[in-house]
Amino acid sequence: MSATAFMPTVTTGTVERQANQAGRKPGRRTDEVIRASILSEGIYELVIRDPYVACTVQPAQFVNLYPADARMALPRPFGVAKVDDDDVTLIYQIVGAGTAEFSLLQAGDVIDVLGPLGKPFDTSKPANYVLVGGGLGVPPLLYAAQKLSERNDGTQVTSVFGYRDARFADDLVAPFADKTHSIVNAEGNVVDLLNDIEDELSSADHPPVILSCGPTPMMKAVAAWASKRDIPAQLSLEARMGCGYGACVACVVDTPSGRLKVCKDGPVFTIEELGWEA
Ligand SMILES: Cc1cc2nc3c(=O)[nH]c(=O)nc-3n(C[C@H](O)[C@H](O)[C@H](O)COP(=O)(O)OP(=O)(O)OC[C@H]3O[C@@H](n4cnc5c(N)ncnc54)[C@H](O)[C@@H]3O)c2cc1C
Ligand code: FES
Repeated sequence: MSATAFMPTVTTGTVERQANQAGRKPGRRTDEVIRASILSEGIYELVIRDPYVACTVQPAQFVNLYPADARMALPRPFGVAKVDDDDVTLIYQIVGAGTAEFSLLQAGDVIDVLGPLGKPFDTSKPANYVLVGGGLGVPPLLYAAQKLSERNDGTQVTSVFGYRDARFADDLVAPFADKTHSIVNAEGNVVDLLNDIEDELSSADHPPVILSCGPTPMMKAVAAWASKRDIPAQLSLEARMGCGYGACVACVVDTPSGRLKVCKDGPVFTIEELGWEA
């Protein structure tokens, strides 16, 4: 008989129950892959079953995925793109060895997960939330759209997505947004798009609040556009991470109030916190 035959089976449900009994969050656990598919060339969708993430995650929080290959010790952070009952959807691009390994996953496989981690967007007030995303910064904004669409306090959702080429998320955000706009690199960038729709934003029932996620140069341009118009903006930063929860200092960003950790103090920061005013 193999050695693994004697190992106790630890399911997500067990981990969750133990954590709840101890009054704390579940630690790293093993989740089942429910679906793995290709959305567009080089862009993958991974659906994992994780009841704890599904019922607690807030927009812009992320989960750590651990590669099975032991030579890759560090987890990889990904924003949550959608929640359906107990199932959590992640959308990612192949960048290096970790994401290449994840792209081989199939339904029925398992993967180690920790989360949700990080500080979410503040969406406490009714507003016209303008979701400005670039490239693989779009997935966390899809979940923001899903959560905001569930409210009945007059909150509106406008998506403004910039893609390198394929518009891989327009169909995914459409069911949750009041207005959708997108642009590909050959046509311009998200700031061009914001200029085009500025009148539309000012005529909405609520004043705009920008929630943004994407490459740093894009978010600096979005921050400058917003601060010139006194539009509040929250920016979800990407940084190279080690632990993902504040222990290793791999992810620090310089701000007017000192060095902050993107994983724990963020990933969401306001323009003022970052000192990115125009
Ligand atoms: C809060 C947050 C949310 C993210 N959400 C998404 C998402 O929804 N979809 C998506 O496609 N990508 C997302 N990313 C980026 C994603 O984490 C990286 O593309 C991924 O870690 C690359 O891993 P790799 O092994 O393929 O690359 P490699 O370059 O081989 O990785 C080497 C090391 O660098 C780290 N690393 C490399 N690039 C990044 C990066 N951009 N951010 C953080 N660590 C990095 C890896 O985690 C790993 O530890 C997010 C990053 C952060 C910080
Ligand atoms: S990733 Fe370790 S402290 Fe942020």
